[in-house]
Amino acid sequence: MHDEFKLLSGAMVTLALATSALVVLPFIQLKGVEPPKGLKPYTSAQLRGREVYIKNGCIYCHSQQPRDKAQAPDDQRGWGRAPVAGDYYYDKPHLLGTMRTGPDLFNIGARQPSQDWHLGHLYQPRAYTPGSIMPSYPFLFEAKDKADAGERVVALPPGYNPGGKVVVATQEALDLVTYLQGLDHTYPVFETIAGTKK
Ligand code: HEC
Repeated sequence: MHDEFKLLSGAMVTLALATSALVVLPFIQLKGVEPPKGLKPYTSAQLRGREVYIKNGCIYCHSQQPRDKAQAPDDQRGWGRAPVAGDYYYDKPHLLGTMRTGPDLFNIGARQPSQDWHLGHLYQPRAYTPGSIMPSYPFLFEAKDKADAGERVVALPPGYNPGGKVVVATQEALDLVTYLQGLDHTYPVFETIAGTKK
């Protein structure tokens, strides 16, 4: 009985320590974080696009967290500065990602602002990046003989229109691209870390 009591108290102490280190301390550290001035809340179209990003598993290949200059040449790759906590203020859930089969997308809106490029690239990545291993997302588009009024026709490179049809974007594709275009965290951040301006 004595040993069981020891085992149980040991387990409780371990759990309490882990909870403090992984939940309580980070909460105290981050609860005062404010959004940087340059960061705008998501629009409703961007939020819908974010759902499409989540639903289609873009996070399995794309991160949204460029590393600091001291750790990796992400800045030279054009992925932008290292993020600060406030950059993720409106991100619920955050989409940091752990895999980087494709490039980091934290600043893709600044790097690639073209709606045409994004729509075409989602329809067929290999039409823009030969040999790309990114999956194509044809189900976010519709191939038709003729586009109806008001429909967004995708301007594909020659030879990529299926059977001479036109490819029109669904609302989901348009929302996803609006989200991607909005991924721009290139505004300056000034955070005082131990007295040094970064
Ligand atoms: C299987 C891995 C994989 C998945 C899943 C994936 N991608 Fe990619 N993505 C890549 C690779 C590899 C590249 C680089 C080659 C290229 O440009 O196609 C890329 C490139 C991109 C680029 C251009 C980045 C740049 O810096 O030029 C964008 C934008 C993009 N992906 C968006 C998406 C979105 C949105 C989704 C989800 C709908 C998605 N990707 C899903 C692998 C993936």
